[in-house]
Amino acid sequence: MKKNMRIAVAYSGGLDTSVMIKWLMEKYDAEIITVTGNLGQKKELVGVEEKAKKTGAFKASVVDATKEFVAEFVFPALKAGALYENAYPMATSLGRPLLAKLLVEAAHKENADAVAHGCTGKGNDQVRFEVSIAALAPELRVIAPLREWEFTSREEEIEYAKKHNIPIAATVSSPYSIDENIWGTSIECGVLEDPMVEPPADSYQRTVAPEDAPDTPEYVSIEFEKGIPVRLGGKQMESVELIHRLNEIGGAHGVGRINLVENRLVGIKSREIYEAPAATILHFAHTELERLTLDKAVFHLKSQLAQEYANLIYNGLWFSPLRSALDGFVNETQKTVTGTVKVKLFKGSVIIAGRTSKYSLYSPTLATYTKDDTFDHTASAGFIKIFGLPLKTYRQVNRSSGKNRTGNGAHKSTHEPSKP
Ligand code: ARG
Repeated sequence: MKKNMRIAVAYSGGLDTSVMIKWLMEKYDAEIITVTGNLGQKKELVGVEEKAKKTGAFKASVVDATKEFVAEFVFPALKAGALYENAYPMATSLGRPLLAKLLVEAAHKENADAVAHGCTGKGNDQVRFEVSIAALAPELRVIAPLREWEFTSREEEIEYAKKHNIPIAATVSSPYSIDENIWGTSIECGVLEDPMVEPPADSYQRTVAPEDAPDTPEYVSIEFEKGIPVRLGGKQMESVELIHRLNEIGGAHGVGRINLVENRLVGIKSREIYEAPAATILHFAHTELERLTLDKAVFHLKSQLAQEYANLIYNGLWFSPLRSALDGFVNETQKTVTGTVKVKLFKGSVIIAGRTSKYSLYSPTLATYTKDDTFDHTASAGFIKIFGLPLKTYRQVNRSSGKNRTGNGAHKSTHEPSKP
């Protein structure tokens, strides 16, 4: 029988998106095709297609986009130094625009009338999905069932699933909401909603507790080429493999656990736990290399723009002209970010051990305090005289308030000029 419309659904295989398939079929008299993006998550995606079809989907596909995710999303963010609120490497935030892209591609290929996603009405992900879809396919209709359906609890969804023979068994046991890909794991809900509660051991998925990590440190050397990691321990490695490997090594040392109260785009503060061993190590090592090879002014401006870059990712503006423009700046800076960084992993921490680069701007003869010193000490006198001139002049003009300003007392008349 001919259906009213065709909807492409971003499908994870979890409870929400499973219930969504059936719900959309009923509510919109629709034919459903599902798209599941593999972004390098550890959780096996075998059986996802069958599950979608068993639930009622007319067509189901799993797309392995891990390589694209790393090359086109993760590495640009790494090069930019993008950490949201100086802490979160944004595995989830970076994954959404790519999943939106896969969804749009499937919708076009299958001539779908609309796309649907399983994001809630109070999170960032709905924004990332819909803004990305709008940027890629402005004419495409988007349906967000979780914002409009009648279910008010997990229990009601499970009830609905049972009634409609939707296979859910493996998905309803965890008390946490978990999102995962190669760049990291995001964990929230349950007891984690209290920011004062230390995350219980079972909330962590891919790292050991620092106290259970080995008693001997492990050294890892990472070689970068133009801001991108290419070798681990001297061994050339394909990007996906390199990140998987670093996740294992870092995870075994308890590295990359982040316990964060963050500012969501939708105006609320939320508490989330992240595990991102490779991202933590790579961001750290990459910045250490930049300290060595970037010009001072470039390094300073870049760290400011890193926050802008992080904000745009977090806020769902990946497919924006601002991102392209910032990429232009970032890529220009990465021309000399080539070299090797050695880090020490130990009980949850990543510590710099050493760095070297053929583009190093560190000059031993300028820096040394030995007889090899070539720095012109006599030139400093004139430099200081002129560099300090504005402050000297200011004090001469504002003499009367001078004693107040150096102490802790109230600043009476700081702007009042001295009486002649
Ligand atoms: N707070 C993170 C972000 O906005 C992750 C959101 C998804 N988290 C989850 N546990 N399902 O990017």
